[in-house]
This record gives sequence, C-alpha cells and structure tokens, in this order.
Amino acid sequence: MARAFPTLAAEDAAEMITHGSLVGVSGFTPAGSPKVVPAALAKRARALHEKGEPFQIRLLSGASTGPMCDDALAEARAISWRAPYQTSNPLRKQANSGEVDFIDMHLSHVAQVTASGVLGLMDVAIVEAVDVTPQGRVHLTTGIGNAPTFLQRADKVIIELNSYHSPRISELADIYMQAAPPRRDPIPIHDPLDRIGNRYADVDPRKIVGVVRSNLSDGGRAFTAADAVSRAIGEHVCSFLLNEMAAGRIPPEFLPLQSGVGNVSNAVMASFSTNPDFPRFKLYTEVLQDTAIDLIASGSVLGASTCSLSLSDDKLKFVYDNFDDFADRIVLRPQEISNSPEVSRRLGVIATNTAIEVDIYGHANSSHFFGTQMMNGLGGSGDFERNAYLSIFMCPSVAKGGKVSTIVPMCSHVDHSEHSVQVVVTEQGLADLRGLAPMARARAIIDNCAHPAYRDYLHHYLEAAPMGHLRHDMKRCFELLNNFLETGAMLPDLDLKQFEG
Ligand code: COA
Repeated sequence: MARAFPTLAAEDAAEMITHGSLVGVSGFTPAGSPKVVPAALAKRARALHEKGEPFQIRLLSGASTGPMCDDALAEARAISWRAPYQTSNPLRKQANSGEVDFIDMHLSHVAQVTASGVLGLMDVAIVEAVDVTPQGRVHLTTGIGNAPTFLQRADKVIIELNSYHSPRISELADIYMQAAPPRRDPIPIHDPLDRIGNRYADVDPRKIVGVVRSNLSDGGRAFTAADAVSRAIGEHVCSFLLNEMAAGRIPPEFLPLQSGVGNVSNAVMASFSTNPDFPRFKLYTEVLQDTAIDLIASGSVLGASTCSLSLSDDKLKFVYDNFDDFADRIVLRPQEISNSPEVSRRLGVIATNTAIEVDIYGHANSSHFFGTQMMNGLGGSGDFERNAYLSIFMCPSVAKGGKVSTIVPMCSHVDHSEHSVQVVVTEQGLADLRGLAPMARARAIIDNCAHPAYRDYLHHYLEAAPMGHLRHDMKRCFELLNNFLETGAMLPDLDLKQFEG
C-alpha cells in the first residue's frame, strides 16, 4: 500500500512541475502511460498561457503515449521538446511545423542516453503503477517502457496509482537493469520467456513527492480488420518462412518473431494462425497488439516477451479475466531489454516491420512522408531490423488510392539501409535480397513487389540510369515524388480505377 506517501490531487502534482523541466513518463504506447497528471499539467499550461506566462516542458517517454498525455499537452502548447516517438496528431503537426523539437530515436537507446546525462537532469518522472511500497518498490501497469530508468534518474517522482488495472498485472513484469559500460554483463536471456529480474522497479522512496489516484483505461485502439492486401502480404511472408524451414535455414522449433506496429503488422500476425502448416512460435517483440493475444489464447503463439500490452479495452479485460492463462506466457520488460540488439542476435529473431516506402535497392523509410513530414518515428524497428536473423519489411505496393507507389527509385528518407533489409514484401509478392548484387536486388524488388502499374516506369528508370555499382540518375531519382507534390499523383496519367476493390 502507498500509506507512506502523501496523496495529491492531480492539479497539486502538476503544480510541482516547473517551466522548462525535463519530464519522463512511464509506459509504452498508451499502455502504462500516466493520464491524470499530464492532463492537469495541460490545464495548468493553458491557464498560465492565458496570463501571458510561459510554460512548456521537455517530454521523454518510452514510445507514444495516450491522448491524455501527448494530445492534451500538445493541444495546450505545453511541449517544447519531445523524444523518442509519438503517434499524436496535434504533436505531429507541431513537429512538422517546427513548433516542437522532436527527436526520433531508436527506442532501445533511450534508457542509456538518459542515464548518460546527455539530455540533462531529469526533473520529474510521472509513473503509472498499481502499487508502490514504503520501501520504494513500484509495481508498474501495462507498459514498462523506460520507467525503471526514469525512476532512478529523476529528481522527483509522482506516482499515478491506477486502480483500473488488475493488481496481478505486475506478475508479468520482469525488470532487469543494466550497469553502465564497460561493467555491463551479458543479458542472460536464452529464450523469450526467460525471467531474469524483479516484478517491480526500484525507486528511492524519498524522491516520491506524492501519489495521485486514478481509475482509467489505457484507451488503446482496436485495429482495422485485415483486408485483402494485408492478407496477401501475410500469405507471402508465411510461405517464405515455411520455405526457409524446409531449406533448413530456420530450425523446426522455429525462431522468435518480432512484429511491428500498425494495421499491416497486426493483419500479418493474424494470417500466421490461419495457415495450418505454420508452426507454433514465440514472440520477442516490443508491443503486443490484440491479434497476438488471440494467438496466445489459441495456442498458435506459445508466449511473448514484450515491453507493453498495447490492447483495446476489451482485449485487456479478456487478459485480466483469464489471467492464469497468460501469467506464464507473457513477460513485460524494460525497452532496453525487449529491444536489445544483443538478445535479438542471440535468439535469432525474425523481424517483421512495416515501411512507408522502400527503394529499388532495399533502403526502407519507416518514418517520413515525402521526405519531410514525420509520421510517427522509427520506433523500435531499427533495434530489430539491424540485429535480426532475418529482417523483413512489408507494405502495400501503393498508397493513396494508387497515386503513390511505395516502391520508389530512391527513398526520400532512409531509416533502414540496404545492408540490413533482407526481404521486401508487398501484396504483389516477395523479394529475397540476400546474396543479390544491386542490379539483381533492384530487378527483384520491381518485378516482385512494385504494383504492375509502376513496373515499366521503374525498369526504365533503372536501365536508363548511368552505370555505377548502384545505378541512379541523380536528376530523376525523385521524379515520382516531385510529380506527386506538383500534380497529386506520382504518375499523373495512370487510370486509378485499376486500384479499386
Ligand atoms: N506515402 C504517403 N502515404 C503513405 C505511404 C506513402 N508511401 N505509405 C503509407 N501511407 C499512409 C497510408 O495511406 C495511411 O494513411 P491514411 O490513414 O490517411 O489512409 C497511413 O500512411 C498508414 O498506412 P497503413 O498502410 O494503414 O500502415 P500501418 O498502420 O501499418 O502503419 C507505419 C505503417 C509505417 C506508419 C507504421 O508501421 C509505423 O509508424 N512504423 C514505424 C515504427 C515501427 O516500425 N515500429 C515497430 C517496431 S516494433
């Protein structure tokens, strides 16, 4: 119980945070993100702004947060600096207009960067928990994120005690902290379900300035049902992985799978369960979405290591109602462990992530539209893709009703390089780039992944480009992009009816 700490109203807790503070928040996606204190902070910022006083914070999190945090604070113009990831519409607009300094970071790096002090001292941590003991054991909720590090680094700690969650949620947590280099031990995870730490995060109880009570769900969103495009992508990935098994490159017990965020990843996960030949497998991933819970419940997925339960309210209720079925099959870790390059490489993770666009040589863009506009950030995709046993990028072959080809001559922004992207998949097919030189890579991607309506353009581009190890025409490599910006379509004369249905 939290008897040892003063109970505060959210407004009183918000008063303790000053203009210019670096604030760290718990959670990863809306899961585990604090709710009532950030909302009160947004209200306070508005009131101060109305009086002509400045009030903005620098906000650091695990990944995205919930609407009561990022949306509320951005709408109140209360954020000056934000890292490492976001999915909030108002914040995205402010990042793209230059109003907020947004730093797009590999998620596994955040704890180490915070601990190094390079971001400055952390003034306040706001951490959602189901319990905090007088000794300073903090039992976290649905998303671990960087809370264990923030609890150690922050000057002051505000605990949001959220009674919405089952008190049993902390049975899933496995908090393992790494020492600073060079005194860092190998992370002793040899199986995704290995437990190596505690069920709670530690904090010096003298830093806890108060406890604020809440009773609110994470409000996670359900994904759109799998459509024909996502199902086709899933089928290509399934057959590829089954072929890899048949060839002996994936062992019969299979390898742990990482599944990225978004509609496409969610649908691809679902397609694995509908293929009767697909083996049962474990997940070593950063986010569990609704489909993963269905697959664990049905036994298709044997268990999961993750950083958060990013579930719709109904799916989280299902987990709480059937907790005994999940207690031994889900491990919630801090993100520097869930996304650890060392562990991915050791376990031989198969990484499946979604791209916004991929170029003909296999560079992938996960974060920016049209070279300039931030979508969400690269998140954990880079943590996994660079260190996976197999790194797969997926996307529909076209976006915006066919006006955009996601297979382009040169990516307008690169998050993942040709050196580590091994397989590209769209609903059209799959290109296995392993062992292929640049021209063969380009032809495989165009022939197998580009939409037929864009293939001739891409082949002509490639064959007409000046010779080099990579053939590129620097005057034309962004022609499709420029066409889109000028006319609203990458190939303005295309008949868009062919993309319907
Ligand atoms: N140009 C313009 N718009 C594009 C586009 C492109 N090349 N590719 C996709 N889009 C648009 C879609 O049209 C859609 O917009 P709409 O909602 O207005 O229709 C939107 O982007 C999302 O596309 P969708 O196909 O539904 O993808 P998704 O929900 O699967 O998300 C990413 C795709 C890339 C945005 C998402 O996976 C992401 O943010 N990834 C980066 C982080 C990450 O990979 N984390 C995982 C680590 S575990």
